[in-house]
Amino acid sequence: MNIPKLAAEQKKHLGIIGCQISHSLSPVMHNTVIQTLNLPMVYGVMDVTEEMLPSLISSMRSLHFRGANVTIPYKQIIMKYLDEISEEAEKIGAVNTIVNNNGRLIGHNTDVWGVYLSLQPYTNEIKNNHVIIFGAGGATKATVFAVAKFFSPRYISIVNRTAEKAHQIINHFSPQYRLTKFSHLETESDIQREIEVAALVINTTSVGMKPNIHAMPISPNIVLQKNQLVFDIVYNPVETSFLKLAKSVEARTIGGVEMLLGQGARAFELWTHQEFPMSAARAVLTQELTNPNGE
Ligand code: ATR
Repeated sequence: MNIPKLAAEQKKHLGIIGCQISHSLSPVMHNTVIQTLNLPMVYGVMDVTEEMLPSLISSMRSLHFRGANVTIPYKQIIMKYLDEISEEAEKIGAVNTIVNNNGRLIGHNTDVWGVYLSLQPYTNEIKNNHVIIFGAGGATKATVFAVAKFFSPRYISIVNRTAEKAHQIINHFSPQYRLTKFSHLETESDIQREIEVAALVINTTSVGMKPNIHAMPISPNIVLQKNQLVFDIVYNPVETSFLKLAKSVEARTIGGVEMLLGQGARAFELWTHQEFPMSAARAVLTQELTNPNGE
């Protein structure tokens, strides 16, 4: 599908803000649902450097923008440019959706809903159990929030390349969720030990995302467990190397497509106040992700 250009003046503009996001499927998903509902809107790509964010944000106030999604690596930094942050996004500490209310930009977090939808079938397995989360970025914050709030695990362990950011996440969430114990895992042996008792392992980093499809968020020496739940929020490719590794030991895998749909549906409803046509969105994502060219 051709992604419409953002120059269609008579239309309300939507789009995704990020860096190196040519593989994002949000444009094709949202433009499909816009066409399905016959709305006068268009969703484009705003692939910008961090220096460009202030002018992009101010142009969003004055142009025909209805709103935007925000993705890697700006889910946290974007917050300081907005006029208001929803209560939930404030608690999370990250924004993935902006709504323009007559020139006032309001930050929301709909990733939470995507995580909830993805994990909801496994509620009983997660409750009172151990969860390991790889990453410490904006998507991680929404994931930690959703897991702690809706699934009440006994332990959440964070693993991240930059230890400092893992500590920040723990300091941010442990006062909010006192029934869950938070810890940071650093050594390979600590990670392995925790994997052996974890009900659920989640990748919230961008590692393994197209085009770096052979990369994995864990060391190849780590052994995942048979029947363990392994969730990767990366949706392109649909089966990441991490999920392939999980399948090779007969772990149960959860891909990132439900998360994409869930967060997209909530964002769309905030922008348009219309119900998101889930089946049209799912169909186009299936088609795009099974395309042998992979684009
Ligand atoms: P966002 O806030 O939009 O989620 P982000 O803050 O850039 O984006 O977070 C991306 C996450 O992926 C971080 O946990 C990042 O690790 P660092 O905190 O060490 O930067 C992780 N990540 C990205 N590329 C990585 C890589 N090549 N190896 C390991 N972790 C990586």
